[in-house]
This record gives sequence, C-alpha cells and structure tokens, in this order.
Amino acid sequence: MQDTPNLAGKTVVITGATGGLGLEAAIGIAAMQANLVLVGRNHAKGEAALARIRREVPGAVAEMHYADLTRLDDIRALAATLNEQLPRIDVLLNNAGSMFAKRDTTADGFECTFGLDHMAYFALTLLLWDKLVQSAPSRIVNIASEAHRGVTLDFENLQYQRPGSYSAWQAYRRAKLCNVLFTRELARRLDGTGVTANCVHPGFVATGFGDNNRGLYGLAIRFTKLFAIPLKEGVKTPVHAATSPEIAGKTGLYLSKSKPCEPSAAAKNDETARRLWDESLRLSGLEDRGQGREVPGDGSAPEAARPSARTSA
Ligand SMILES: NC(=O)c1ccc[n+]([C@@H]2O[C@H](COP(=O)([O-])OP(=O)(O)OC[C@H]3O[C@@H](n4cnc5c(N)ncnc54)[C@H](OP(=O)(O)O)[C@@H]3O)[C@@H](O)[C@H]2O)c1
Repeated sequence: MQDTPNLAGKTVVITGATGGLGLEAAIGIAAMQANLVLVGRNHAKGEAALARIRREVPGAVAEMHYADLTRLDDIRALAATLNEQLPRIDVLLNNAGSMFAKRDTTADGFECTFGLDHMAYFALTLLLWDKLVQSAPSRIVNIASEAHRGVTLDFENLQYQRPGSYSAWQAYRRAKLCNVLFTRELARRLDGTGVTANCVHPGFVATGFGDNNRGLYGLAIRFTKLFAIPLKEGVKTPVHAATSPEIAGKTGLYLSKSKPCEPSAAAKNDETARRLWDESLRLSGLEDRGQGREVPGDGSAPEAARPSARTSA
C-alpha cells in the first residue's frame, strides 16, 4: 500500500467543491496538509463545505471563492483574484460539471452543458496558465467520464443550436469527450513546462449529479444512482491523479480506477483536439497559450500528444 502523500506547502485549487466529488476530494486532500483553494457558487453551501472539511480534518487550511462557472466574467474575476492572492498553484482540479435536461444557454450564449463542463475548464485553465507554469512541477486534472465513449464532435452543431437536435445525454457525453480532447491538446501545449495535464473517470458515483433536473428526467437520474458506487470509492481516481507520486511527471493520460487506460478513438484524434481548442479560443475571446510542437505533416501525433505515460521536466 502507498503512503499518503504529504502536500504541506502545496496549493490545490478545486472547482465544484461544495458537494459531490469536489468536496470529497477536498476532504481527502486536506488530510494531506495542502492549502485548499475551493470554488463554489452558493454561499450557504460553501460555508457548510468549509465547516465539514474543518470538522473532518481538524487544522485544515481551506478557503472558498465564489463564481458561477457558466459565466466567463465570473471566471475572469475568479482567476484575477487567484493570480493576485496565491503565490503558487500546484494542482488545478477542474471538476464542476452537470447535465441539463432541456437545452438552455448561459449568459455568454453557450449551450449550458458545453459551457459548464467544457468552456469553464478551458477558460479557468488558460487564465491560470502562468501561475501553473511558475509553480512547476504542477498538475492539471480534468474530471472527464467514460460517458465520452461512442460519440464524436459535430463542429457544425457543437452546441446543439440546430432546432430539435438537443439530447441531454448526448450533450453530456460530448462535453466529456471535450474534456479528454482538451486534456490531450493541453498536454501537448504544456510539454516541457513541467506542468502535467491528465483526465480521469471517477466511476459512476453517488453524488448530487443531475439533481438540478426535475420531472421524469430528474427521477430517472435519481433511480440510476441506486446502482452507483459510494463517494469514498469514486473520489480515489481524481485524488490519485492530483496527488500521487506515481503520477508525477506523467501527462496526457486518461485514468480509470487509478490506472492509465485508452480513451475512445475519437478522444485520440489530434486534429479534433486542435480544432476544439481553436473553437474554444474563438468563443471565449481568450489569449492563446502554449503553442506546443507542430503535428508532423503525415498527421501522426507528436510524442507529446500520445496517450502513453510520459515524463516531463
Ligand atoms: N457522479 C458521477 O457518477 C460522475 C461520473 C463521471 C464524471 N463525473 C463528473 O464529476 C464532476 C463532479 O460531479 P459530481 O458527480 O460530484 O456532481 P455534483 O455532486 O452535482 O457536484 C457538482 C459541483 O459543481 C458545482 N457546480 C455546478 N454548477 C456550477 C456552476 N454553474 N458554477 C460553479 N459551480 C457549479 C456544484 O455546486 P452546487 O452545489 O451549487 O450545485 C457542485 O459543487 C462533473 O464534472 C461530472 O461530469 C461524475
């Protein structure tokens, strides 16, 4: 059995830390003595989460920041505060996510699933880029899902703007495919910086996931959760990716049950990964980061973009 890592002096940022996997990860990582910088959107839940962390881990160092991650303005303000206040960021855990029964749009006009589950990961990561690079060796961990399998991205209808095309489950699966593709392109662009980028499938876990949906859809989600694994089990892979010395220096991985595994073929397509990056950049209006190495003309992936374990600085 592995020793619990000691993260004293390390700063770990976790989004969606007011419940589910984010809060459970915060409790686990607090016990490793890290400084926790947590992100929620609801003040009452945020205070309750902090109280629980301090109750379960006496002496835990944790603070809560508030941002609605479906809003680019909130993400910009959050990132500005973190960049100003934090001397370093050793781990960024992009976790906040959900599924939406009906198609709706965010304040920025993004389809909600795409906006929260992908664009928020993308924007926060790019806005914290310099801090993460200055803090190297540091890690970015994106919570993806096995749900990414069996779908491809349709750039002509990326946000289900075509009338009648929306399906909540398909939108969620595509957003999770975006998480794996984003991680892949991120790993390529961060190559040589000492910042690693990996993504994980936590398992099918009993959390508050999907509880925002009412009616039959909400009922169906609650029913399927009867078959889910407990939180304590589900949090293992995200915490492993964020903290384990076994993962140090490894990048571009998709982990399930705390082991690297192959994502779907669609999730290994470098051209799609690059196109998603470009589209996300255009939609967010953010400054581009980390050009990475060129993909060779024959279309084969550069070393930095291959899914096998690699060691960076
Ligand atoms: N549960 C599973 O079986 C499973 C499987 C695979 C992947 N995942 C992924 O795991 C991640 C965490 O999900 P979970 O299962 O832990 O769900 P959860 O219990 O619903 O927790 C989601 C967290 O995200 C926060 N959040 C939601 N919308 C937000 C917004 N607009 N701005 C800021 N924060 C927001 C929630 O805050 P509030 O408390 O205010 O709502 C909550 O803290 C997601 O990315 C999900 O796709 C989950």
